[in-house]
Amino acid sequence: MRKIYIFDTTLRDGEQSPGVNLNMQEKVEIALQLEKLGIDRIEAGFPAASPGDLAGVNAVARAVKNASIIGLARSREKDLDAVHEALKGAQDPCVHLFLATSPIHRKHKLRMEKHQVLETAEAAIRYARKYFDKVEFSPEDAGRTELDFLCEVTAMAIRAGATVVNIPDTVGYMTPYEYGNIFKTLKENVPGIEKIQLSAHCHDDLGMATANALAAVLNGADQIEGTINGIGERAGNTSLEEVAMALETRQEFFQAKTSLVLNEIARTSRLVSKLTGMVVPGNKAIVGANAFAHESGIHQDGMLKEKTTYEIMSPETIGLKESKLVMGKHSGRHAFREKLIDLGYELNEEQVNVAFAKFKDLADKKKDVSDEDIRALIEEKLIETPEVFVLDTIQLSYGNQSVPTATIRVKKIDGGSAEEAAVGNGSVDAIYKAIDKVTNEEVELEDYSIKSVTQGKDALGEVHVVMRQGDYSVQGRGVSTDILEASAKAYIDAVNRLIDKRKAPARSKRDNVSLI
Ligand code: KIV
Ligand code: ZN
Repeated sequence: MRKIYIFDTTLRDGEQSPGVNLNMQEKVEIALQLEKLGIDRIEAGFPAASPGDLAGVNAVARAVKNASIIGLARSREKDLDAVHEALKGAQDPCVHLFLATSPIHRKHKLRMEKHQVLETAEAAIRYARKYFDKVEFSPEDAGRTELDFLCEVTAMAIRAGATVVNIPDTVGYMTPYEYGNIFKTLKENVPGIEKIQLSAHCHDDLGMATANALAAVLNGADQIEGTINGIGERAGNTSLEEVAMALETRQEFFQAKTSLVLNEIARTSRLVSKLTGMVVPGNKAIVGANAFAHESGIHQDGMLKEKTTYEIMSPETIGLKESKLVMGKHSGRHAFREKLIDLGYELNEEQVNVAFAKFKDLADKKKDVSDEDIRALIEEKLIETPEVFVLDTIQLSYGNQSVPTATIRVKKIDGGSAEEAAVGNGSVDAIYKAIDKVTNEEVELEDYSIKSVTQGKDALGEVHVVMRQGDYSVQGRGVSTDILEASAKAYIDAVNRLIDKRKAPARSKRDNVSLI
């Protein structure tokens, strides 16, 4: 198996994504995670761009011990000096310099003839070699450069001392066949090509960045450049997690592998998304939220019988816990029954049928049905919890300068009623202390959440609580247009379930939620 070196440019090309601006600490945090991921080479920035960029590259260079750190430079002495300065303290420094070679760039941007491009690049590479043992040269816009001129440029770079020649498809114009052919042609025609490494650097303007990078591998590329989550200039760069998983999953086909620590992929993706603020689309290959989620009934049935029916990779490989069966209108009975077992419910056939019909009803109105929805559906519709206490009245005294006081009156199952008052740190706290007194139960509130279930100022608020008493854990739910009343109802609901559960503990199976 050939080893493919992975060159990460999340901190340079990735940071060129519109709206992304990482500070020094964030760059170091990402770089350290890239090191954990086993990235071979990290391009940390473009030191000549600003003093901040130089300092950021330097901070990364000093922090990372197990990857080569690279700084980008134009083919100018001033830029190369800046990279030299920025990489002080790096264990394994490398400079990446570039000069455009395509006819469009030569004519309109550089206003240079071919021979001037060759001379300028050669002088820069030789200058860079004074500082660095490792020098990568990129003929920018190589994809649109005449192939014979690209061979000439590559031969010059090798003679001048480049150790890596990178072939950027700067504008994402190539198709896999054409891009692969560039590598084949260079390998077959450039003298001394065996002395250096060839690298692929693709952009995703036509959605072919990963395919192009893999075509380069098939044609002899030694290194792939890209970013985490595929972020970068315009449509972004090759997604490194896609390359890593393609080489892993189709090893026999590519006969090549990376040395990435694959189960760090998900964590790295999340960190990059968090610090760059670039949200990963749900359907993004490998790291999108839906990449291991199955919704259709047929797929879910297949997955439950044998995962390989619909999964070519396992989520655990990239560091995720498990695949998700998304419960929605396409889900079938098999998945629904498994979900019930997963949530800790043991229902008989008839109960499953009733629950399934109600679930389908709900799924018609709601895109994704959450675990909470299913719990509510089972507990509210199928499990009759005797109401030992029913909220009768609630009175509150609240002022920003006074201590909140709540008075709660409940009706009891035996026909009586009771009333208690309490003060608390806030209105909800006061209500819950008053309910503790009136029900005479000692409980621990483990979780409290509130959400609106309808829209507008008069939205219904739904409060969900999780309550514990010793080994028993129960949930309660309350809905009202008034969130304090919803809070009281949810708490009393949980107390009723607790009392019921204490009476029939044998019904509880997995996680102590109310079970049949
Ligand atoms: O896409 C590109 O051409 C680049 C160069 C700087 C290598 O990012
Ligand atoms: Zn690029």
